Amino acid sequence: MKEPNSNDDKIRFSRRGFIKTAGPTATAVMAGNVDQASAEMERERAEKPLGPGPVAIELNVNGTVHKVSVEPRITLLDVLRNELDLTGAKEVCDRAQCGACTVLLDDEPVNACMMLAVAVQGRKIRTIEGISPNGKMNKLQEEFVKHDAMMCGFCTPGFVTSLTNLLETVPTATDEQIMKACSGHLCRCGTYPHILKAARAAAGRTEVPS
Ligand code: FES
Ligand code: FES
Repeated sequence: MKEPNSNDDKIRFSRRGFIKTAGPTATAVMAGNVDQASAEMERERAEKPLGPGPVAIELNVNGTVHKVSVEPRITLLDVLRNELDLTGAKEVCDRAQCGACTVLLDDEPVNACMMLAVAVQGRKIRTIEGISPNGKMNKLQEEFVKHDAMMCGFCTPGFVTSLTNLLETVPTATDEQIMKACSGHLCRCGTYPHILKAARAAAGRTEVPS
């Protein structure tokens, strides 16, 4: 009878141990599955971390594809403002608390200060500049002017972006929908009643809100 710790067993255990602890690629190669191995290598290559130096990315902003080279740690807001010269979205809190940096990502309002630029490639980005192309104001912006709905103006692009998105989807939005669209937006100057009046007027209602 063979000793349990014979050389043969040592070799067998050692091979088994290696296969168990080796990565999926090595396992696939040893199992003779070339397709699986190359798929694993492809996946590992795809998961390779980016950076820390600049990487080339493409961003679709207001219908135009922009090629930029930025470090992966850079936010969408910084790329918009510093690389693309789109300074409508404002950097105020830089921590998702004020809404001044709001842009639309695939038609959803997001805080651009909280998005990494590398992570939004292939998505549709719309900024306040894309909301009023060629400097022509939309109905909501005209109502903002008419109702004096701004003071310093730092919060205004964020409010207008979120409310325009609402009114494009629901042209006769209710007060509740308007206030919901404004949630997450802070106005340090306290122009909320004027903003509400402007949004109600853009939604086709002119009576004074209670
Ligand atoms: S600057 Fe992004 S939420 Fe305030
Ligand atoms: S108008 Fe100044 S923060 Fe809103």
